[in-house]
Amino acid sequence: MKAIRVHKFGLEHPMRLDEVEDPQPQEGEILVRSHAIGAHPVDVVIRAALHPFHKNFTPPYIPGPEAAGEVIAIGPGASGFRMGQRVCGRCVGGSYAEKVRMSTSWAMGLPDSYTYAEGAGIVVQFITAWNALVIQAEAGPGETVLVHGGAGGVGMATVQLAKIMGCRVLATAGSKDKCALCQRLGADQAINYREEDFAERSLELTGGRGVDVIVDPAADVNLAKDVDAIRTGGRIVVLGTAKALDEKASFAVQRTLLKDARILCMSMPNLIPRLPDLMRRLYPLVAKNHFQVPICREMALAEANAAHELLWSGGHHGKLILKP
Ligand SMILES: NC(=O)c1ccc[n+]([C@@H]2O[C@H](COP(=O)([O-])OP(=O)(O)OC[C@H]3O[C@@H](n4cnc5c(N)ncnc54)[C@H](OP(=O)(O)O)[C@@H]3O)[C@@H](O)[C@H]2O)c1
Repeated sequence: MKAIRVHKFGLEHPMRLDEVEDPQPQEGEILVRSHAIGAHPVDVVIRAALHPFHKNFTPPYIPGPEAAGEVIAIGPGASGFRMGQRVCGRCVGGSYAEKVRMSTSWAMGLPDSYTYAEGAGIVVQFITAWNALVIQAEAGPGETVLVHGGAGGVGMATVQLAKIMGCRVLATAGSKDKCALCQRLGADQAINYREEDFAERSLELTGGRGVDVIVDPAADVNLAKDVDAIRTGGRIVVLGTAKALDEKASFAVQRTLLKDARILCMSMPNLIPRLPDLMRRLYPLVAKNHFQVPICREMALAEANAAHELLWSGGHHGKLILKP
């Protein structure tokens, strides 16, 4: 099969479209003919060797965590899936390829109402949003949630999940168009963080009380102001840093401790033991609600280098999809 591989860390070294051996599904896995691949900004940062996870990869490797397609083989001990079924999920051993392996605990049937491209933007995004809102922040109906980067991959999922949970949603985004997208996704108010002070605006919008929960994918830049925007007893969930570098953040300690504010951090690998249960809970929501998965662009798999340039520039919104 054809696959994109990283042969050397560093963005100055282009990835190559290689002919490689077909993967074989292992214990508890399915093999999927991919129709759409979700390209993630973190793939670029790992390739640039700027993310701590890059140590988990040895070139040449196939990048990417996520895809959607049809089941073409079922590995030993794998149950719950049938040949030809439309599925989406997180991949084992890379997703930038014509055929991908998925662990059954990270895969779900793709309801007919979703395209494959939409399917390639569901599992990682909504599981991350679930972890942030339900497991970490324990957000409840009636609470106000501030979602930073509401037009991003995880952001679009967090906005929609928070709405379904009965929360009021404020979302930040870096342009007028992205603010409009946040509102189409259900955000009650959108704040252009390049033009307005999000902390002041959040206080204004909550009558000076502050928001109950903040979900932050750019905590290196935002944390100092998050603690101004949060209410007493509020929760700030740290998802990542603006360019996913191992950046530092500082905040006013005394002012924050006076608020009994909680700063919660989360990482996807720590969720693995809980995945089968989380996927069982996520599937009915995905099937019932028809979540929007805004697709910013679809590009051929062979154009993966150009896709990485776009992701690195931050010029995308929602999901960028590669088509094998
Ligand atoms: N901890 C975990 O378990 C976990 C899991 C998945 C992803 N992540 C992390 O979550 C982050 C987002 O991932 P993604 O796939 O959703 O990437 P993405 O689509 O590129 O989204 C990044 C978002 O960050 C926003 N942003 C950047 N600077 C900002 C600022 N100063 N203020 C507010 N928002 C800002 C961007 O907003 P604009 O585009 O509007 O500027 C964009 O929406 C990454 O750091 C990723 O590594 C963490």
